[in-house]
Amino acid sequence: MTAASIGTTWPVHPVRPRRGSDRRVNLSSNELIHPAVPHLVKRMTSGFEPADLTHYPVQDAPAESAAELLGRRPDEILLGPGSDSMIRLIVAAVRDHVGGQLLTQYPNYEAWEATAAIAGGWDVRRIGKPADGRWLPAIQSAADGCDRALVAVSWPNGPDGHLPDRRELAALADTCQRRGHLLVLDGCYAAFCGDHEWLARLADDSIVVLLSWSKMFGLAGGRLAVGVGGSKVVQYLRAFRQEDHVNTLMLSALTATTAVHDDFRAVWADIGDCREQARTLLSEAGHAVAPSGGNFLHVPLADAATSGRVTRRLSDLGYRVRDMAETPGLRHHMRFTVACGPVWERFLQDLEPLLSSVPPSEAIER
Ligand SMILES: Cc1ncc(COP(=O)(O)O)c(C=O)c1O
Repeated sequence: MTAASIGTTWPVHPVRPRRGSDRRVNLSSNELIHPAVPHLVKRMTSGFEPADLTHYPVQDAPAESAAELLGRRPDEILLGPGSDSMIRLIVAAVRDHVGGQLLTQYPNYEAWEATAAIAGGWDVRRIGKPADGRWLPAIQSAADGCDRALVAVSWPNGPDGHLPDRRELAALADTCQRRGHLLVLDGCYAAFCGDHEWLARLADDSIVVLLSWSKMFGLAGGRLAVGVGGSKVVQYLRAFRQEDHVNTLMLSALTATTAVHDDFRAVWADIGDCREQARTLLSEAGHAVAPSGGNFLHVPLADAATSGRVTRRLSDLGYRVRDMAETPGLRHHMRFTVACGPVWERFLQDLEPLLSSVPPSEAIER
């Protein structure tokens, strides 16, 4: 080393790492937890030949399968290792095209802003939920005030759970088309409100829809998502080589999805029932739990100390839930994944006395 070493310092980005190993039941990441899922995932992967790992992945047949499932053409399908990764791809790929303007729901999934911050060159405009709860018209009015932006909306919203009115989407889609925006509808949780096929049909060259096989089909560890768009935008995005990252096992599972889609509809319906049952239970205990279109619920608690205490107590009981202390609009909320089966029943039994012993929140910050 010479006397005058330049040294190396690396920038620190505020990105939440994935969890470390943990023996608690994970009700924090909104994985699909239902007794039928392990068997269904086995069916999705049973046609896989380990020898296929010796070949580079080929996407034609899986893309055809996804297209058939969603009523689209194969050239309108984009595959990626999770919608997280698709979001990163889109942020990287369209920045120059949209002059670095990002209009995003706020809160929205953290990858949008985190990726934009890492990439640099983005001007981020956040659109919070208005007091009347009509988020789409608020986004539309912001989108109507500029040309060529990336507009990011999650349907239903993660982390908020808000499910917009379908009838309000046409006006936003129109504005995006007219103003040259790319609207991304992140339908990560759309299966839990029955909207994923409807969303996929709306996609075109100014609307890309992302569907997460992690959340919908219990493949969080596999990392798989399907994007749908018009053939031109898909062709543009494919040039960024997402196909390098979806492995042959997940491509095989995707090809098998048509065979299990109907079984999963029953799973999503069960999760919806469990969600509403939990809302009723918590409302009866005095907690005003807002509706959610996803497989998760938020409980507003009196203050940060209470939400910290409840989260820690649940952790001691063996559950990993999310303290939303850092999420704007959801501070003092505790979020948990809605599941089905024995795990869920046990969780409700543990949660009920715990929540009965803390004061309900009066002011809900949303
Ligand atoms: C709204 C939203 N979008 C996207 C993702 C990423 O999902 P995945 O990469 O597993 O498809 C998440 C994960 O929690 C999410 O909440």
